[in-house]
Amino acid sequence: MNRLLLTMGMVAVAATTLMAQNAPQLGKDPVAKVVAAMTNEEKASFLVGTGMAGFSGMGMEDATKNATKTSDKDMQAAASQIGIIGETHQLVDGAAGTSYAIPRLGIPSFVMTDGPAGVRINPTRKGTSQTYYCTAFPVGILLASTWNKALVNSVGKAMGNEVLEYGCDVLLAPAMNIHRSPLCGRNFEYYSEDPYLAGEISASMVKGLQSNGVGVSVKHFAANNQEIGRMGVDSRMSARALREIYLRGFERVVKEANPWTIMSSYNKINGTYTSQSYDLLTTILRDEWGFKGMVMTDWMGGKDAVAQIKAGNDLLMPGMPNQKAAILKALNDGTLSQADANKCITRILNTILISPRYKKYAYTDKPDLKAHAVVTRNSASEGMVLLKNDNNTLPLAKNLKKIAAFGYTSYDFIAGGGGSGDVNEAYTISLVDGLQNAGFTFDNNLKEVNLKYLTDQKAKQPKLSPLIAGMILKRIPDYAPTADEINASVASNDIAFITIGRNSTEGNDRQVEGDFNLSQSEQQMMKNVCEAYHKAGKKVVVILNVAGVIETASWKELPDAILLAWQGGQEGGNSVADILTGKVNPSGKLPSSFPMSITDVPSTKNFPDASKIDAMKMMTQGFGASGEKKELEKNTDYTNYEEGIYVGYRYFDSFGVKVSYPFGYGMSYTKFTYSNPVLTKKGNLITVSCTVTNSGKVAGKEVVELYVAAPGKTMEKPAKELRGFAKTALLQPGKSQVVTISFTDAELASFDEASSSWVTESGNYQALIAASATDIRLTKPFTLTGRTIEKVHKVMLPQETLTLLKK
Ligand code: BGC
Repeated sequence: MNRLLLTMGMVAVAATTLMAQNAPQLGKDPVAKVVAAMTNEEKASFLVGTGMAGFSGMGMEDATKNATKTSDKDMQAAASQIGIIGETHQLVDGAAGTSYAIPRLGIPSFVMTDGPAGVRINPTRKGTSQTYYCTAFPVGILLASTWNKALVNSVGKAMGNEVLEYGCDVLLAPAMNIHRSPLCGRNFEYYSEDPYLAGEISASMVKGLQSNGVGVSVKHFAANNQEIGRMGVDSRMSARALREIYLRGFERVVKEANPWTIMSSYNKINGTYTSQSYDLLTTILRDEWGFKGMVMTDWMGGKDAVAQIKAGNDLLMPGMPNQKAAILKALNDGTLSQADANKCITRILNTILISPRYKKYAYTDKPDLKAHAVVTRNSASEGMVLLKNDNNTLPLAKNLKKIAAFGYTSYDFIAGGGGSGDVNEAYTISLVDGLQNAGFTFDNNLKEVNLKYLTDQKAKQPKLSPLIAGMILKRIPDYAPTADEINASVASNDIAFITIGRNSTEGNDRQVEGDFNLSQSEQQMMKNVCEAYHKAGKKVVVILNVAGVIETASWKELPDAILLAWQGGQEGGNSVADILTGKVNPSGKLPSSFPMSITDVPSTKNFPDASKIDAMKMMTQGFGASGEKKELEKNTDYTNYEEGIYVGYRYFDSFGVKVSYPFGYGMSYTKFTYSNPVLTKKGNLITVSCTVTNSGKVAGKEVVELYVAAPGKTMEKPAKELRGFAKTALLQPGKSQVVTISFTDAELASFDEASSSWVTESGNYQALIAASATDIRLTKPFTLTGRTIEKVHKVMLPQETLTLLKK
């Protein structure tokens, strides 16, 4: 009997082996054959990721045992309501997610990791003393401030090399949502208020990253412009605003850079979750734009797994058992067609086929972190923006060696923002470290006072995992130095620095008081330090180590110089020092406007007020789950984009509203003159050129911005729109460069809702060659015969009547 069973068992094993041997293999057999060989069970498993710590794929017990960066308890509470940052421990420890492998068909997993300021994995692993630190590169808003596509491309190259060498396949980056409001908690990850700039910078980043043979996931597609209520908020907007402002940058990246994957967003647009929107993911993304890659959800995004597959959202991340069950049931009962599932599976397989893991790339776990530290140091200094520099305060005169540093952030510099965009870097160079490296000395008393204050305050904070703390705790208010401390420092130092620090993260938005606006202690510090130093004939420099736009109008008259350092990655302090010493001449320009006040921003009345939100309650009880509440909450469950296309400078310029610092603004240690404008038209191609001359005393680079003002007679048009830009090489004093910018008439088109098409107006246009949105240096007129550029599908229309802002 036993012998019989044994024989039967052996026959069964042999049959399975034979089946496996005969089964089609990915890469050897056509993809269609591999798909056809999958069972429904395999298909359902393959369409969802393998889960993350605490959410299947790995038992809760395992997850808790392995979790190093975050506490799984916190994660679970938060995840069901606000989505959560991914973390698996399967192939690469701490990566965001992993796809499902089917070895019998030769299908390996592939590994996805955050993004976007560098690779986010766990820096240490059990059982080895080896470390896996990654480079924290500058945040997105800083990279956009470089206006330098070649430089962003080189950052992408370095970052992509870490993706590859740490055994990952896809970086969940770049993030390119529009800065609709300065208050969005994730603006640091995003690039700009302008879709052209955001699109061009993203495309350069994608090309750089993908040149390593790894993939990207351009996120969050689309109109994910606030964090409060992010899992379900309905972004309600006109078709024109959607097409022109919120989709246009993504379209540019898809067409220019061919990203491997795109990540759909958490929110809805005009009533439908983006991850469940066939109109967005198939009609627009694939049929209209020709996207060939794969779409994945954001982590736990959307509600209906089957609807997601039908919409063309190929992979559900990080993957949960209920999603697999729903898909399997629908495949078995026919409510999900084989054809729909197969299309998604095919696209995932095509991505796997080009991935390093499929190609068995022998990664080293040892990228050249030293070389990448140089890349981040140089790119950060190029994106820092000099906002003010009275009487040539900067670069620092050679005799100024002793510095009094106010603001605890001087000692505790912020490399980057929180959440999934937070890289585990080995070190961060603070302002003080950077300046010490450059040969300066610091007031030790101030250092001690500030660090003690910070330690005491930190001890009083509730004990939460860094992830959750980042989402719900307000930043510790700055230390207001006493009159005695200030006076003592004046006597023994040559100059004062005040660092204003701001951090933000996904899952929450910024408050106006104490975040967008300076806190009371910061205002007091600014006033008192400036008064005391100026009385003694000494200067004050403000360093803004911030994650986004802040209020500057009320205090900018006080200091002598202001450097917007953003969050410059792990070498931030060295990058700032390079600018302060004059080793680098600042050449960054603003990618978003700095308004006079938050109430001047047209989206403010339709944006959540973070001060009224109980962040802990939001996390545990949740907003945005439509249907759970009787009445939907304005700006949390739904947000009306009443400003329409008038976002950022498009609004300020068109409505004559004064700003503190305009879009595209940034100073240099030298001066540039613009001359000899030439405009030529060849068919539909318009080319504008001019000569830029360094008419100052030190070498520098200049960003040239090209805006076009349309007739605005037959269509509502903003006063002007950015249609091109270029950055000069490093020009020595007296040297010139001819800068050339080309665009087609199609770039000038606006979206006409009535005919659902992109159209250009006939009439007289102006090409405006500018140093900022309000500093037009040269103008060239041209005429255009209007035409319909492209007719597109009439989809994703608002379901309610919106009161739209009009000129
Ligand atoms: C974020 C994504 C991120 C994902 C994985 C989500 O919470 O919105 O940007 O890629 O987590 O960590």
